[in-house]
Formats: sequence, structure tokens, C-alpha cells
Amino acid sequence: MTNNNPIGLFDSGIGGTSIWTAIHELLPNEDTIYLADSKNAPYGQKSKDEIIHLSCKNTEFLLDQNSKIIVVACNTATTNAITELRNKYKVPFIGIEPAIKPAAINSKQHVIGILATQGTLNSELFHQTVQKFKDTKIIEQIGHGLVPLIENGDINSPEMNKLLHDYLEPMIQANIDYLVLGCSHYPYLIPQIKKILPNHIKIIDSGEAVARQTKKVLMENVGLSNQDKEGKAIFYTNANPKVLTDILKSQYEVKSKDF
Ligand code: DGL
Repeated sequence: MTNNNPIGLFDSGIGGTSIWTAIHELLPNEDTIYLADSKNAPYGQKSKDEIIHLSCKNTEFLLDQNSKIIVVACNTATTNAITELRNKYKVPFIGIEPAIKPAAINSKQHVIGILATQGTLNSELFHQTVQKFKDTKIIEQIGHGLVPLIENGDINSPEMNKLLHDYLEPMIQANIDYLVLGCSHYPYLIPQIKKILPNHIKIIDSGEAVARQTKKVLMENVGLSNQDKEGKAIFYTNANPKVLTDILKSQYEVKSKDF
């Protein structure tokens, strides 16, 4: 394994490209390989065993492409499978978890909202995190139906707008001043969410923190790429490539692969 090998990322679908963007902005010279397991999306309602099985399959694909580090660009896969992944494979893993900590620390009302999948909100790792912030009231909401709409390219649909109103209005009533987006698909909904939330409610996701952590772990381990040109990015999907191409604004190579 050398420092010029690619960074591998996977998600249940196209959402983890929000994490890829943050990593590419911070580390533009790194080669990257992104795997969208859209055929199996959403992971959010699957059992822990199924999520572990799919996460291992995704990791093995990325290791076959010589990834020097694996970024699990999915909260659901991280909260359900990262321990098993770290035990099973030697490569360093970066996980993504809902940004409860910065929201709880900065909340003036001591009330925050979190929108995430059922798999994330029910996970042991998430419960452990919540226990650390007992002084903050955390309004949890499962984002039922949001990921399938995003995977279908229906981000701006009336159905999406209705679901977001249904999920966010009770949080507004409860006086939240932070909304944590606990699913890597949800940053693509920020424009619609902003139309619903009053201006004083801040929205946070985990993209930049994951990018900083990826850089730190690479510097402590195999090292950063030393190529002096922009890194090559390859995106693989096992479903209709159009949705991934659209979300990337056609700027990068998308390959179809049955896995
Ligand atoms: N993007 C994923 C996450 O961050 C998973 C969504 C899903 O497949 O349910 O949780």
C-alpha cells in the first residue's frame, strides 16, 4: 500500500457523494473511488446483520481496487457495522456519525433535532452518543421515505416537500435551534429544508468533520498523495447511473457495475 493509492468510499447509494465532495475539497490531489450500492438502498430499514454483510461486500470491492483507506460515507453503515469492519480488515476506516456533539454544545435552547434513518437512530452507537448529552433534549425523527425519493432523483418533488414539512414542523414547535442531518443523503435536501425552517435554526452535517478526520488519519498512517495534479475520481454504481451522473453534474466518470 502506498500513499498514492486511492481513497475508497462507499454508501448505500448516491448520498455519500456529499462526503466525497467535502473530502475532494480538502484533499484535491487524492485519487478516489466511490461505490454507490444503490441496488440495495435504503439500508436504513435493514437488519444489523444485513448491513454488516453489505458493508463487507462494499469494503472488499474497494480493497480490490487497492484503496489505502475506506471512508464509510453512510451513517447507517457506520453505526451498525464499523466495529465489525475494523475487526475484520487491516485498512484504516473512517466512519460518519450524526454531528450531535457540535449541535448540543452550541445549542442555546438545549433542544436539538435529528433527522436520520431508523437503522442509525436505533443503533447502539447512536444511543451511546446521546447518553453523553443528557442536558440537551434531542428530538429524533426517522426520515422515512426520503432516501428512496433521493435515489429516484425526486429531490424537488411535492412528495418530498410534504414529508419534510411533516418531519420538521414538530421540531420547530419543540423550539430546536439546531437540526442535525444524520444521513449522508440529506445534505442534498438543504435548499428545501431552508425554506421550511426559520432562519435562526442552524443545519449541520458531518461532511467537513469527516474530511478533516480522513486527512489526519492518512497523515498518521499511509500518507497523503504527493501527486501535483487533481486526483482521478471514479464512481461505480450497481443501479441506473443517470441519478449518480445528475447529482455529480456530469463532471466525473460514472461506471456501471453489477455487484
Ligand atoms: N446515506 C445513508 C446514511 O447516511 C443511508 C441511507 C439509507 O440507505 O437508508 O445513513
